[in-house]
Amino acid sequence: MRLILAIIIVLLCGSHALSEDADCERKTEVICYWGSWSIYREGIGHFTTEDIDPTLYSEISSLDTWADIDLGGFENITSIKENYTCLKIVLAIGGWNEGSIKYSVMAATAESRKKFAEGVLRYLVYYGFDGLDLDWEYPTSRGGILEDGQNFASLVTEIKKTISPWNLTLSIAVSIDTSLIGFAYNISAIEQNVDFVNLMAYDYVLPATANVTGLSSPLTAIKETVSSWLDAGLSREKLILGIPTYARTYILADDNGHNIGDPVIGEAEPGEFTKEAGFLAYYELLDLMQDAFLDITSVQTDDTNYAYGSNEWYTYETETTVRAKTMYAIDQHLGGIMVWSIDTDDFLGLYGKKYPLLKTISEVIMENEPRKK
Ligand SMILES: *[C@@H]1O[C@H](CO)[C@@H](O)[C@H](O)[C@H]1NC(C)=O
Ligand SMILES: *[C@@H]1O[C@H](CO)[C@@H](O)[C@H](O)[C@H]1NC(C)=O
Ligand SMILES: *[C@@H]1O[C@H](CO)[C@@H](O)[C@H](O)[C@H]1NC(C)=O
Ligand SMILES: *[C@@H]1O[C@H](CO)[C@@H](O)[C@H](O)[C@H]1NC(C)=O
Ligand SMILES: *[C@@H]1O[C@H](CO)[C@@H](O)[C@H](O)[C@H]1NC(C)=O
Repeated sequence: MRLILAIIIVLLCGSHALSEDADCERKTEVICYWGSWSIYREGIGHFTTEDIDPTLYSEISSLDTWADIDLGGFENITSIKENYTCLKIVLAIGGWNEGSIKYSVMAATAESRKKFAEGVLRYLVYYGFDGLDLDWEYPTSRGGILEDGQNFASLVTEIKKTISPWNLTLSIAVSIDTSLIGFAYNISAIEQNVDFVNLMAYDYVLPATANVTGLSSPLTAIKETVSSWLDAGLSREKLILGIPTYARTYILADDNGHNIGDPVIGEAEPGEFTKEAGFLAYYELLDLMQDAFLDITSVQTDDTNYAYGSNEWYTYETETTVRAKTMYAIDQHLGGIMVWSIDTDDFLGLYGKKYPLLKTISEVIMENEPRKK
């Protein structure tokens, strides 16, 4: 079976990770995904394991094919742990482009679930990962079947049983679609077997399907989603709030209709480095904002941001909005913050300090909570 892989690095103590006898436990984790295909980007978009700054996060995660292994990427990333005692690196599989069907088939029988869990264990141990992050997007939808709900519960149970004797963790990434709670996501099975639930609290509206502009991660909607998970019985400390470091981008139907809910005619052009329609890395957006010719106006609302200039419209996060979201997660005693993804933040510091969004999250956590003891 060909799988898409991702890496999550968990750094539990910020700068404390450097010390030998660090107490690695924190109340609030920072979990970061790393889209490892960013190693194929050119120029300033090129991101290698050397750009990772483990003092900023509890976790990093990336998605790529087996090519990673050939390139030595996995070995590079797990070797970072040598100097960071508290860093955890987790292998993730799945993601949006992988779809749901192959997971649906794999999860369908006890025999195939067992084979999968054993394969996972072999890879985790061989490459020195600390756990698995399962990003099946999503059970029961996108070509999945009704039985996926029960099969998903059986799958996480099987994986946990297989990897936990090796002290390896299991996390999952979940949809913002609350109709899947209980139906696709069996909360009691998740509560018993999964260490972290990474809520992908972004893309509430997508330029590929929307006919009007909409915010990607408005806090009002996020609060409702979080409440649904908690009301369904998931422990607060298992729920991790996802924050995007990218913008979603639209082309307006009318240059003067640039409010939320105004008509659009589709996705804006791809960014120079990330090359995906309707999407810009934060560093690509900052570049546009600096261009006086484009005359971009930005508006903060609902603890997120949008901006417009000429016929384009952008929905994204700033240091101020990630601060608000992180404070919300701390106030709610959630397990932490997840970031998609480190390679789309301004990791080179081309428009100010390095990793402006991640650094803000890390600082807010350091400032606002005592360490667990
Ligand atoms: C692995 O490390 C080497 C040496 O530091 C570096 O040249 C290479 O780009 C790294 N590979 C990846 C995938 O980051
Ligand atoms: C760990 O730190 C030492 C000393 O600074 C350095 O020589 C080594 O390359 C580092 N290891 C990794 C994997 O970065
Ligand atoms: C798992 O962790 C426990 C407690 O820290 C330890 O006693 C045990 O040796 C570990 N097992 C493995 C396989 O590392
Ligand atoms: C959820 O999982 C639990 C324990 O794994 C199981 O007993 C229960 O039947 C499942 N519920 C549903 C609705 O599938
Ligand atoms: C967008 O418009 C098309 C065509 O009118 C319609 O089929 C579709 O449902 C609309 N999408 C949304 C998200 O409203």
